[in-house]
Amino acid sequence: ESTLGAAAKQSGRYFGVAIAANRLNDSTYSTIANREFNSVTAENEMKIDALQPQRGQFNFAAGDRVYNWAVQNGKQVRGHTLAWHSQQPGWMQNLSGGALRQAMVDHINGVMNHYRGKIVEWDVVNEAFADGNSGARRDSNLQRSGNDWIEVAFRAARAADPSAKLCYNDYNVENWNAAKTQAMYAMVRDFKQRGVPIDCVGFQAHFNDGSPYNSNFRTTLQSFAALGVDVSVTELDIQGASPTTYGNVVNDCLAVTRCLGITVWGVRDTDSWRSHHTPLLFNGDGSKKPAYNGVLNALNGG
Ligand code: G3I
Repeated sequence: ESTLGAAAKQSGRYFGVAIAANRLNDSTYSTIANREFNSVTAENEMKIDALQPQRGQFNFAAGDRVYNWAVQNGKQVRGHTLAWHSQQPGWMQNLSGGALRQAMVDHINGVMNHYRGKIVEWDVVNEAFADGNSGARRDSNLQRSGNDWIEVAFRAARAADPSAKLCYNDYNVENWNAAKTQAMYAMVRDFKQRGVPIDCVGFQAHFNDGSPYNSNFRTTLQSFAALGVDVSVTELDIQGASPTTYGNVVNDCLAVTRCLGITVWGVRDTDSWRSHHTPLLFNGDGSKKPAYNGVLNALNGG
């Protein structure tokens, strides 16, 4: 196959991209995005601050713009993200305790009701674990509302849209030996044992010189899948965009039956949140980088 989406589809997987609504008018951008990818994540437009800028007043305009563009072009949509310490609107940042807990559940209900039956995978909770070697939860207003905030979010999400796969999503959890990975693994195992509704784990895979790709990523994916959840690579970008490393990530996903697909975090280097790392598959002028061929060849079994 000659595009990333079609090549991934050969094994029943998707190859997706993060889309920024305000770039869809750029025809170089939208032409590549439409041609190459068969899954879409909104880069910012389905986050809490975007969807509920004032308490109780939802604004789905930008989120729907990304959603409609995707569906009109035959792509599936990943939802990102319902409960997160970051990109909370000001009113939510100022809440705590039971009031925050209620606001979190209200947000999950409001958003999942709007998109009910339309989102294949939802990132229900994003980035709840701390960086470093503690294996602890990240401090945040959500964490201070009680350690059970994550399972409360997943139970609310299941009730709000039983058709969506419910994911936990995080970064620096690709290396099997990292304390953060092991902490996330223990949480997912506990949730599966106790019947907390979790269906998938998203590995963001923002690889850079400080937290590089490690070949034990495949062990990580396999170990989580063995707990009885699907896995996805949700925000892939690689500092320097080595074609070999990109190919290795693809092969890791292809090696794991329960790996649903891969999403890269932007179209061109100039669209990236870390553009100075030139981490993506396309140059600013829209031309394909060597990393593109690394991905396509791997998807095609080469
Ligand atoms: O839209 C405003 C614009 O009106 C304003 O003039 C401008 C000035 O700063 O800011 C614009 O908002 C920015 C937004 O991106 C859209 O470009 C925010 O400041 C900026 O903080 C925001 O950054 C996003 C970041 O999440 C915020 O946490 C990045 O685009 C986005 O790629 C990044 O994505 C995250 C994932 O959600 C979770 N995992 C990590 C990943 C990378 O940080």
